[in-house]
Amino acid sequence: MKIKNAIYIESTTGADTSQSKTLPEFAFIGRSNVGKSSLINMLCNKRKLAHTSATPGKTQTVNRFMVNETWNVVDLPGYGFAKVSDKTRARLKRIIWDYIDGSENMVLLFVLIDSRHELMKVDLEFLTKLGEKGVPFAIVFTKADKNSKTALQKNTESIRNKLLEYWEELPPCFTTSSMTGEGRDEMLGYIGEILKDIHNNQTE
Ligand code: GTP
Ligand code: MG
Repeated sequence: MKIKNAIYIESTTGADTSQSKTLPEFAFIGRSNVGKSSLINMLCNKRKLAHTSATPGKTQTVNRFMVNETWNVVDLPGYGFAKVSDKTRARLKRIIWDYIDGSENMVLLFVLIDSRHELMKVDLEFLTKLGEKGVPFAIVFTKADKNSKTALQKNTESIRNKLLEYWEELPPCFTTSSMTGEGRDEMLGYIGEILKDIHNNQTE
């Protein structure tokens, strides 16, 4: 899929009534600092679309962007960030789950996992909750450029194996780098297929 344009629509913290919410949405979630906002910019080919920061906890609202005037990208706050007050953590958790539970247009949630580390407890807990709720998701390994080829292979394999201890089969998995563009074509191709299915179902 070609990205013709991507524009910022709005930042919200709860229910809202924007027109743009009627478009199919692909949302991005993962631990704080895993690279959600950077990946969105890489996919949309627009460096400053979503705000990024080396300091964890940058995204604190639900940020909506419209792509090709036909679908939305949603940048969510991160989870599992230790250095915030209990009050802030509870607020971010509420914002995340209000969106996931309440969104009528979210067709898929991309769950980002840092390719440099083992699967963390917070990731497993989050994925388990998605499974229990039947939320459709795919997994995205981020920051591939920060690994050697061997380490990347080893780490992603270890995360997959860990997940297979809990699931019979894995959801689609993508390996990406916002620095090099790795994984962009694969992710956009996958999004394009889903949008095509939605379109075909609507016109049947
Ligand atoms: P929060 O909004 O705080 O939850 O973070 P986030 O998940 O949106 O992460 P963000 O995109 O802001 O990136 C966090 C840091 O990681 C920034 O310093 C980015 O430059 C860096 N980063 C993100 N993706 C990549 C990548 O693929 N490769 C490298 N080398 N750095 C990355
Ligand atoms: Mg962010």
